[in-house]
Amino acid sequence: MPERVVLAYSGGLDTSVAVRWLIENEGVEVIAVAVNVGQASDRGGEDWDAIRTRALAAGAVEAVVIDARHEMAEQFCVPALQANARYEGKYPLVSALSRPVIVRHLVAEARRHGATAVAHGCTGKGNDQVRFEVGVRALAPDLKIFAPARVWRLSREDCVELAAKWEIPITVTKEKLYSIDDNLWGKAIECGAIEDPWAPAPGDVYTLTRVTETEPTEAIVGFESGVPVSLDGTPLAPYDLISRLGEVAGSRGFGRLDMVENRRVGIKSREVYECPAALALIVAHADLEDLTLERDLHHEKARLEPRWSELVYDGLWYSPLRDALQAFITESQRHVTGEVRLRFEAPGTCAVVGRRSPVALYDHGLATYDATDTFRHADAEGFVRLWGLGVATWSARQGPGAEAEERGGS
Ligand code: ARG
Repeated sequence: MPERVVLAYSGGLDTSVAVRWLIENEGVEVIAVAVNVGQASDRGGEDWDAIRTRALAAGAVEAVVIDARHEMAEQFCVPALQANARYEGKYPLVSALSRPVIVRHLVAEARRHGATAVAHGCTGKGNDQVRFEVGVRALAPDLKIFAPARVWRLSREDCVELAAKWEIPITVTKEKLYSIDDNLWGKAIECGAIEDPWAPAPGDVYTLTRVTETEPTEAIVGFESGVPVSLDGTPLAPYDLISRLGEVAGSRGFGRLDMVENRRVGIKSREVYECPAALALIVAHADLEDLTLERDLHHEKARLEPRWSELVYDGLWYSPLRDALQAFITESQRHVTGEVRLRFEAPGTCAVVGRRSPVALYDHGLATYDATDTFRHADAEGFVRLWGLGVATWSARQGPGAEAEERGGS
């Protein structure tokens, strides 16, 4: 009996060709697994029936579509939000978050279908191969891994020809303009005209952040223990909240990134992203933390956030360090409860214009300069004297104070 391989299937040209290529070149049976993580939101969602049919037409013995939209939102986007996760201070980890979701389902399907291997369509130059393979090795070290696109040396034209020869029903253009990966958290655009880091990205790369509304608008995001739970007072599941806020933010042109980043494999690459919901939510969440987190906790968390982001970017979602950092971050969110008022204004701004929390550490009586002041001013004198005692002693013996003494004495 031929071995069974579970392939991470997107429905696109490469993974469609990969189905048949694996059958022909490895003599295996292929089970195609397509995971819905909220992609193609700029086109009203993927046509999952067409994707299933295409996988079967390409020769898969079985084609499975998994709806992981809420899982993506609740178990991956929300933790990333709580970590204010932005790789290299900018990129909110869009693709890096979906790969561990897909990996989890690949492994589950491999078990269900008695497969001995998994496969993906990534090339050797990107981060996604790292995320797939390191993830699989963490969850199921016994499974073999096939990466056909890393070995087949086929150009895009070759793939188009093979798809035609093998009668795989797929509409493709000879010239593919960009490589796009997207999900609920945003959209990553690579290749084509973007590969010149000096050239401004052509306007047609943007689909989620085009200005379609010129009137400024406000959105009130409600959080409970660091989880976004409502929009303008209406309770919503994270998936729906992220989708809706993305539309509001995107319609004012907010959420674009144009950057050069360091891939795990040592390549610098110019990337364009559209992440209206992710970036707006991080702005809101971080602001609510300003209001509710105790100072030392806040500062320590800020030190750990880049580490969390780097681990996830590097494909180490399933790792003991991510688990341990997660425990810290989850604990830190206990009192991150309240509302943040965001104002969106075309083209492309998102500003926090208000925040409130039942557990705010902002104390008006302490902060105010008016008559309701409750601060004990007399305490400040002694505190400041002791705070400066060390440097005052240093100055007198070794620093500017000592020099002044010498000048005065000579
Ligand atoms: N550079 C980004 C990352 O590593 C985006 C990757 C997009 N993936 C793709 N197959 N086009 O997370």
